[in-house]
Amino acid sequence: MKPGPNASPFPPPALGEPWLLTPGPLTTAHSVKQAMLKDWGSWDGDFRAMTADLRRRLLALTGDTKDAFDCVPMQGSGTFAVEAMLGSFVPKDGKVLVLANGAYGKRAAQTLDYLGRAHVVIDKGDYLPPRGDEVGAALDADPAITHVVAIHCETSSGILNPVAEIAEAVAARGRKLLVDSMSAFGAVPLDVNEIRYEAMVSSANKCIEGVPGFGFVIARKSELEAARGRSHSLSLDVHAQWAHMNKTGQWRFTPPTHVVAAFLEALRLHEAEGGVAARGARYARNRDVMVAGMRELGFETLLKDRWLSPIIVTFFCPAHEGFVFSDFYERMKGKGFIIYPGKLTVVDSFRVGCIGHMDEHVMRRVVAAAGEALKEMGVDSAAPPPEAIAERARLAA
Ligand SMILES: Cc1ncc(COP(=O)(O)O)c(C=O)c1O
Repeated sequence: MKPGPNASPFPPPALGEPWLLTPGPLTTAHSVKQAMLKDWGSWDGDFRAMTADLRRRLLALTGDTKDAFDCVPMQGSGTFAVEAMLGSFVPKDGKVLVLANGAYGKRAAQTLDYLGRAHVVIDKGDYLPPRGDEVGAALDADPAITHVVAIHCETSSGILNPVAEIAEAVAARGRKLLVDSMSAFGAVPLDVNEIRYEAMVSSANKCIEGVPGFGFVIARKSELEAARGRSHSLSLDVHAQWAHMNKTGQWRFTPPTHVVAAFLEALRLHEAEGGVAARGARYARNRDVMVAGMRELGFETLLKDRWLSPIIVTFFCPAHEGFVFSDFYERMKGKGFIIYPGKLTVVDSFRVGCIGHMDEHVMRRVVAAAGEALKEMGVDSAAPPPEAIAERARLAA
């Protein structure tokens, strides 16, 4: 049946599955799923053209008009791409400053441990943002540091880290910045003309709204050249994948063909929507509508407004004794929405994602479902415990 003229551009998932309010995998458009119905020969010219198109379109999102960067897709989940970036761009005698304020910063440091690359960590705890001045001070204090790793949106709390001021501090001292923009790229600008970085990574199933199966590295060509022979790993060698793709048009090992086809449709939708700015604006509207509604119900956010990303929001669990997260989760799922447990170590929390093929009307239904779930649980106040408010007070405006 053809949708009528008033049909929502964001209809519920066609097979009746719940909306995913999770930061990837996320709810994708039906046409993205449909794009996976064809089989492709990985060596065939048609698929090689698809790979070239994907690389070109992703690169265009960075504003690289000087042809200084290139895009290298890598099979696997986002973590594989982060590991590929670190192992390929940090020389064996390099030293890395990792800026951590959550799980993904910590994972970057753990990856460097595995790779045997020297590193130090500025660990800001669960969510406090690493600031440009402290990065500058750390670099001044340790001339051996060659690279800095920053997490663009730290998805474990939802904070949008101040990458621009970090990049400035790093560039001013002649060091190199590597950015994990997994959950932000495509919705939050990371323009190479405005923010100096050597390489960044993201993956198919985040803000471009594809399905999981590959990540991609976007790096300065000079860094790609310099990475030759440096990687610890055959399959995660970004230089080798880049050189092979440029020479043959093919991925080195079996590519996720269907995922690539789906991703091209996702890129088409991204472009039709209006690119990074429009995608970011829809997600910001999703966040604003959802946060306002949840606050009306009495929920409180971990972060003050200025740090809230348009990607995912952390809420404190209510102090009310009737509130049990697993029960709340199941009730939300029963109403058609999958939410996310929290990742804070100090107080109980949960998260609601704002990304995926959905709009503010869906977010209003999420809020209504949360209100109903509280009622069913006999929770008449969603106010968090005093410890949560005290914790939040640590985040100076
Ligand atoms: C900022 C960030 N880095 C890394 C990852 C790891 O990606 P994956 O779970 O696909 O391996 C994620 C996943 O959500 C992320 O949000």
